[in-house]
Amino acid sequence: MEQLSNIEPSAEEIQTAALALTKGLLVAFPTETVYGLGADAENSDAVAKIYTTKGRPSNHPVIVHVAPNADLSYWVSELPLEATTLINAFWPGPLTLILKRADNIPSAVSGGQDTLGIRCPSHPVAQKLLSVFSDLKGGHGGVAAPSANKFGHVSPTTANHVREEFSEELKTSNVIASVLDGGQSDVGIESTIIDLSRIATHGAVLLRPGHITSDAIAEVLGYSPSLPDVAAPRVSGSLEAHYAPSTPVALVGENELLNVVEQLIQAGQKVALISHANHENNDASLQKLQAYKQMSNNAVAYAHDLYVALRDMDHSNADIILITALPEEQQWLGVNDRLRRAAFDSRSILQKLLQSTN
Ligand code: TXA
Ligand code: MG
Repeated sequence: MEQLSNIEPSAEEIQTAALALTKGLLVAFPTETVYGLGADAENSDAVAKIYTTKGRPSNHPVIVHVAPNADLSYWVSELPLEATTLINAFWPGPLTLILKRADNIPSAVSGGQDTLGIRCPSHPVAQKLLSVFSDLKGGHGGVAAPSANKFGHVSPTTANHVREEFSEELKTSNVIASVLDGGQSDVGIESTIIDLSRIATHGAVLLRPGHITSDAIAEVLGYSPSLPDVAAPRVSGSLEAHYAPSTPVALVGENELLNVVEQLIQAGQKVALISHANHENNDASLQKLQAYKQMSNNAVAYAHDLYVALRDMDHSNADIILITALPEEQQWLGVNDRLRRAAFDSRSILQKLLQSTN
């Protein structure tokens, strides 16, 4: 189980981390969604280090994080009314806006696109880091940061997850200058992403669902964001396989669960289960599980625990992680999106395991 610390980084540690950013090094830091791997957004060489460290293709755009009092006109060339409305309602917080990038901002940060993903996180440690860094940069600092995990892998929600992801890099190079510890991320899944870069023709578009739901956005915008069309800006989290642990993951319906577990165990497979329904003492086959994680049946609480659960189950030495399918309701959209990508290829994985005799 994860050891959580309540230790906040000292002002000195934050100062040191911000200084490291000005020197082109990387700093991992907590946000309310997941931990980020940050670089000076205006230093293209530093941004390139994020890509190599994560093993991420360099045409994937990165979100720029700014302090609450940031002057957005420095970062984007157009700030439509809808952006101001969403910012007033949801910043600081888990909402990223895609807007037209200002000419003075190097294109490396947005993978060569003419847009910019920008958000102001609410986590106090992130805010302190961003404020100190911005001051060091003369008032306009922004930190480009994807989630602090290897490309395609599960996002980190604790400082220990980050240390685990980059244990090699932390040992063998000093490209990551520090990992700031801000305890477990509250939200637990990545920010909601809304594209406003084509507002005049397409309205607001939901590129990635998250804690801030379409309904919450509709309440302030007056209409629900639409789903992306083929020409919408690219989001790497929208690749089919993403957010995945090393152990194969399969989604199973509640009604087929006992049957699937029984068959897998008979085929000699070690099974880990993540479930929002309470199965304790329900059935003999569930006693034979390699590992079991009981989740909440509340979507917000489930999201908070999801990545910790995936990592714990990944460490259980199971051959497969089963996850019981969740309701297809609005509040589960963010969690369902991550589960579907983690369980990409679910059915064929199950077939293969059932056929093999271990
Ligand atoms: O909650 C979050 O958003 C976390 C924390 C660290 O802030 N960050 C995060 O970053 O999830 P990352 O890189 O793992 O995912 C960011 C997503 C990517 O899918 C990327 O393609 C998209 O945002 N994105 C960033 N800038 C974009 C842009 N200009 N146009 C389209 N998509 C963009
Ligand atoms: Mg990510």
